[in-house]
Amino acid sequence: MTNTATTDKTAYRNYTAPLVSDTLERVREFYRLNHRLQTYDFVKTKKAQFLAFKRQRLTPWQALDYLNTLVDDSDPDTALPQIDHLLQTAEAMRADGQPDWMVLTGFIHDLGKVLCLFGEPQWAVVGDTFPTGCAYSPKIIYSEFFAANPDTHKPELQSLHGVYAPHCGLEAVHMSWGHDEYLYHLLRPHLPLEALYMVRFHSFYAWHKEGQYQHLCNAQDQAMLTWVQRFNPYDLYSKNPNRPSLAAVKPYYEDLLAKYLPATLQF
Ligand SMILES: [Fe+2]
Ligand SMILES: [Fe+2]
Repeated sequence: MTNTATTDKTAYRNYTAPLVSDTLERVREFYRLNHRLQTYDFVKTKKAQFLAFKRQRLTPWQALDYLNTLVDDSDPDTALPQIDHLLQTAEAMRADGQPDWMVLTGFIHDLGKVLCLFGEPQWAVVGDTFPTGCAYSPKIIYSEFFAANPDTHKPELQSLHGVYAPHCGLEAVHMSWGHDEYLYHLLRPHLPLEALYMVRFHSFYAWHKEGQYQHLCNAQDQAMLTWVQRFNPYDLYSKNPNRPSLAAVKPYYEDLLAKYLPATLQF
């Protein structure tokens, strides 16, 4: 496996020529499963199962330590452990002088991937997210794989608005289940709304990059979109194969975690 450093932004999320050389089949297989199995009913089942937060109490550092063991199957741009991705994201924000709550958000935005620790398969944890319960946008990555999703054959779930009212707001939409939605609910008491949008919708590329699903958005979503878009380049373009040193910056992040989050989080 090779991972190439680049300053060429078109090289990222290039699913036909991935930055990490052996990822093409891994990512394709990931989305084949994800798009077949993420049904509207599946999402509601997972919310009932995980949003009670009755599993485990962890310090943020314990959760981050676990992420160190995980490589994301949906990511064509990096094969480094998650902690390196989080640190690269946050350090790029810090270097640009972004507000400290945003640096913190960068540092923990993928913490929801601890779902893998609870035995969840990657297709139910990572990857781009999309609304369930309404028509799939053709701009969703590998949208051809939705042909195998049972919801495709339920007309009531495939009209433009599906089960939703026009401009109901993304709050009311059941997004495909994964680390974004899970962590959003976990952090809701602790971070500002802008940060919560970054966490909840950072993988919703069909919305923040492709401009899809405007018919479900309300005024708050429109106002928050620019914050999600401000977050995205740090998540995406900070990926490079050089591992940052956590030890050198750990005191800064310890202070930041203590400023915004309780000592332990109930997962
Ligand atoms: Fe993520
Ligand atoms: Fe990320």
